[in-house]
Amino acid sequence: MIKKGIILAGGLGTRMSPITKSVNKQLLPIYDKPLIYYSLSVLMLAGIKDILIIVNKGQINQFKKILIDGRNFGVKLQYKEQQKPNGLPEAFIIGEKFINNNNVALILGDNFFYAQSLTKTLKNATKLNKGAKVFLHPVKNPKLYGIATIKNKKIINLKEKPLITKSNLAVTGLYFFDKQVVKLSKTLKPSKRKELEIVDLLNKYRKKNALKAEFLGRGGAWLDAGSIDDYYDTTSFVSTIEKRQGFKIACLEEIALNNGWINKVVLNESIKFYGNCEYAKYLKNLL
Ligand code: G1P
Repeated sequence: MIKKGIILAGGLGTRMSPITKSVNKQLLPIYDKPLIYYSLSVLMLAGIKDILIIVNKGQINQFKKILIDGRNFGVKLQYKEQQKPNGLPEAFIIGEKFINNNNVALILGDNFFYAQSLTKTLKNATKLNKGAKVFLHPVKNPKLYGIATIKNKKIINLKEKPLITKSNLAVTGLYFFDKQVVKLSKTLKPSKRKELEIVDLLNKYRKKNALKAEFLGRGGAWLDAGSIDDYYDTTSFVSTIEKRQGFKIACLEEIALNNGWINKVVLNESIKFYGNCEYAKYLKNLL
């Protein structure tokens, strides 16, 4: 059972410079809330309350200003710095103490997930006991992602940003690992782009026949708000759905309320904290 989760919200955001020169990408808005709300919502929907957020050097206070210690969302947040973007598996080395020999989930702070029965799929993934689990979703441009080749629903090959591939199945930025993950991350060597690669870590599990694949399904959406175009596509996706249906995607207080993690007194605190805005009006309607 996975009860701990890490959000990797570091990175220089170079693809979005100059916008990201002085602000962490994960604090920029996707429509009506900061980008990090979306990855945090995924962990919360999975039922994970114990969360470590890894940010760039010197940026902890920026995140604390909006997320505090998670009390308004009924979760426990801790923060750590990543000195340099040394690759995704470094999250497990930085988070070793936090992980404390437990199984753990990792989500990238700029990833966006939206799918029918997502909560059920996520809760099922947290049941992982041994091995690792990844979520795959088709993309048009496989050159930009970690790509999995599958046969009979089993991953037979994994490559980071392959120039030539027959598969269009990207490994999304949501991963579930058993407690071996810290030890295995420490054995990785930096790749050509001088980073520890998540694909190399996953390949270690695959070679032991311990890597499982999960699919978001054709009706699901996965976006990676890492480039300007993807960033605005994510914003327009959220605004279209929210305006049409009247409910919010990734409203952390609503998820916490539905999970029974906060009561209406705490919700009122959030309403006061946000002040006079559309988001707070939405929260008032939940009361
Ligand atoms: C990273 C991973 C890649 C994965 C992607 C998902 O890519 O290395 O395997 O498919 O996140 O967002 P990067 O953001 O380093 O380009």
